[in-house]
Amino acid sequence: MLESRSLRLQGLDRGRVDRRIIFASGLSAGSPGASLPDKGKPERQQLGGIRMDGSLVAFGHWLQNRPFALSIAGSDWAYPFVQATHFTGLSLWVGTNVAVDLSLLGAGKKSPASMQLSDTLFLWNWIGFGIAITGGFLLFSVSAETYLTNIAFLTKLGALIPLGLALHIVIQRKAPVWEQASETPAVAKIAGITELLLWLCVATAAVLIPYVG
Ligand code: HEM
Repeated sequence: MLESRSLRLQGLDRGRVDRRIIFASGLSAGSPGASLPDKGKPERQQLGGIRMDGSLVAFGHWLQNRPFALSIAGSDWAYPFVQATHFTGLSLWVGTNVAVDLSLLGAGKKSPASMQLSDTLFLWNWIGFGIAITGGFLLFSVSAETYLTNIAFLTKLGALIPLGLALHIVIQRKAPVWEQASETPAVAKIAGITELLLWLCVATAAVLIPYVG
C-alpha cells in the first residue's frame, strides 16, 4: 500500500503508480466505489502534509470514484493517453503565449504580419488551453484526494494558474495596441517577461507534484 505512495514520491515508475494510487494509497478514504467512513464526517481532516476541509475531502473522494475516473485508473493505455492530451494542450497554450511574449520583448524582426501576432494566434491559443484544462482535470480526477493535499498542486492550481491567466487576458487585450507602436512600451515588456516567468513557475510546480507531500 504505502510502497506505491513512496515510489510515487521518489518519482519512480510515475505514470503507472499515479493511476494506481487511488487503489493503493493509505491517503484514500477507501477502495474505489467505497463511501467515506461514516464515523461522523470531520470538519477538517489531516491528509498528507495539509489540513483540508471535510467537504473538499468528500469532493475528492466523490470525484475519484466517478466511472470515468475509475476507467482511466483501471486502463493500461488511458492514463498515458490523458497525459499526452494534457501535454499537447500545454504545447499549444504555452507555445503561443511564448511567441507573443517574446515578440513583446522585441525578439524577431517587426513586420506587418508579426505585429498582429496575438490576434493571429488567438484561436489556437485558447484551443490549447481548453485541451490542457480537459487533460489536467482528467489527470486530477484519478487521484483527486491525494492532489488536494499536495502543496505543489494547490499552488499551481490555486495561485499560479489564476495569476497567469489574469495577466494573459490583460496582455491579449493590450497586445494589438502595443504591437503597433514603433517602440514597444516598457509596460508591455514587463508584462511579457512576467507572463513567461509565471508559466515557467506553473510548469515547475507541476513537475514538483510527485516530490512533495
Ligand atoms: C494551463 C496551465 C498548466 C500548465 C503549464 C501545466 C503543466 C503541467 C506539467 C508540465 C505537468 C507534468 C509534470 C510532470 O509529469 O513532471 C503537469 C501535470 C499535471 N497537471 Fe498540469 N498544467 C496546467 C494546467 C493544469 C490544470 C488546470 C490541471 C487540473 C485541473 C492540471 C493538472 C495536472 C495533473 C493532475 C498533473 C499530473 C501531476 C503528477 O501526478 O505528476 N494541470 N501539468
